[in-house]
Amino acid sequence: MNKKDLIEEAARRTGLARRAARRGVDATLSVIKGQLGSDDCIYIRGLGRLYLKPKRSGFLPAARGTPPKPIPAGKAVKLKASRQAVASLNTDKDRFLTPHTLDTSENNFGGKMEKKNEKENEKTEAAKNEGSALGLDVGTSRLVLASGQADNVKTRAELNAFITVAYSKFTENILKQNKVSYQLNGDERLQIFGNEAERFANFFNTEVRRPMFNGTLNPSEEYSLPVIQAIIHQLLRRTKSGEMLRFSVPGAPRDGTSTDLVYHEAMLRDLFNGMGYNSKSINEGLAVVFAEMEQDNFSGIGISCGGGMCNVCLAFMSIPVMTFSLAKAGDYIDRSVASVTSEGATRIRVIKEESLDLSRPPQNKYESALHVYYDDVIVSLVEALRSSLAETKNMPRIDKPIPIVLAGGTAKPKGFLGKFSQALKRDGFPLEISEIRVADDPLTATARGCLIAALYDA
Ligand SMILES: Nc1ncnc2c1ncn2[C@@H]1O[C@H](COP(=O)(O)OP(=O)(O)O)[C@@H](O)[C@H]1O
Ligand SMILES: [Mg+2]
Repeated sequence: MNKKDLIEEAARRTGLARRAARRGVDATLSVIKGQLGSDDCIYIRGLGRLYLKPKRSGFLPAARGTPPKPIPAGKAVKLKASRQAVASLNTDKDRFLTPHTLDTSENNFGGKMEKKNEKENEKTEAAKNEGSALGLDVGTSRLVLASGQADNVKTRAELNAFITVAYSKFTENILKQNKVSYQLNGDERLQIFGNEAERFANFFNTEVRRPMFNGTLNPSEEYSLPVIQAIIHQLLRRTKSGEMLRFSVPGAPRDGTSTDLVYHEAMLRDLFNGMGYNSKSINEGLAVVFAEMEQDNFSGIGISCGGGMCNVCLAFMSIPVMTFSLAKAGDYIDRSVASVTSEGATRIRVIKEESLDLSRPPQNKYESALHVYYDDVIVSLVEALRSSLAETKNMPRIDKPIPIVLAGGTAKPKGFLGKFSQALKRDGFPLEISEIRVADDPLTATARGCLIAALYDA
């Protein structure tokens, strides 16, 4: 690899323009040169120590009859690789060449990822999934994997969140002993990610951080990519058989919020393809249609109300006719209620998830505020749905009333369906609706729909 290749690779992995990546690489190289020039060494955790080693003078072997060529004394740059780097090079030769691949050597992960167990898990997972298809819901709050067959779906979820704690050998050992997955990204902090993140956030009385914000990868979160990659590795093994993987992506935003969907989708596709899958994205609302509307010939309106956003898709015979997303959902409710009640957003989320019943009058100031912001989300959603339908060109002629199915964690509280139906009926609706219902399992509907799409393509 030469410097040009290095810049190309850096641009690809970071998503930066080549010129910006070149500036980063140039700056890094000039810092390295400066440090080495002043006879200082550079220590990079996970890689090793770079330093200048004096080189003795000598002679180049020469052809018979000609005098040997002298080589003057000088200095050579040496890398003393760390144990971690050596271990990872020995166990997985392409690790440093694969985009964003994490170091999964024993030193960097907790007990859960110990090599022996990892191998065994890989074998059993591989046997379970042999020749099958997978669906993955990549949500702002959670990643949900669906596997198996349409009539026997298994799901597993990981929280799409992490916290960071200061690195120390002591903390690292405690995490290992407790079989907590964590990673080091070459700096002085440890990231605890996935389902464990919440437990540790409560323990340290801190808020979790998220690799995604409002439905897409969060560009202002420095650990966004390595953390989401680590969480994905908790759910998915690498494969050699090119299994079908369908993963959910949001629709284009209606409210003009800037989300970089193209980047988000491309980074995820790259990651899954790099793990050996035949991967393709599917709109999250369409996934709800796939999961819930087989009886209706995959025709109807699928709505997924998650943490970061609500996603809507009107489909006819499985073909999306209208899709959009709205960056107002569970997180917006938590943030807004927290702000008007001077409570933490995490505490509000717990109240909301554990006891909110939208079908009865509010019992306290938290519930009052929750009702207000739930109404706000529902009204915004219904208005956006009406305007999107009005703007849709080439609307197919529908000869039969179609269903609306609501999914996602935000649709879970009792009374959500009632409030939504009321808002929809209040000012009339341009399409004939056969029924409005909540999905069988609102938290897994998107993943199940992705699996069905993958099974159809397999
Ligand atoms: N029982 C519940 N009652 C109310 N809200 C819930 C419940 N369960 C989850 N949520 C909320 O749903 C959102 C997450 O939904 P989910 O479909 O998992 O989201 P995402 O697609 O963003 O990953 C969060 O705002 C969470 O607080
Ligand atoms: Mg979702």
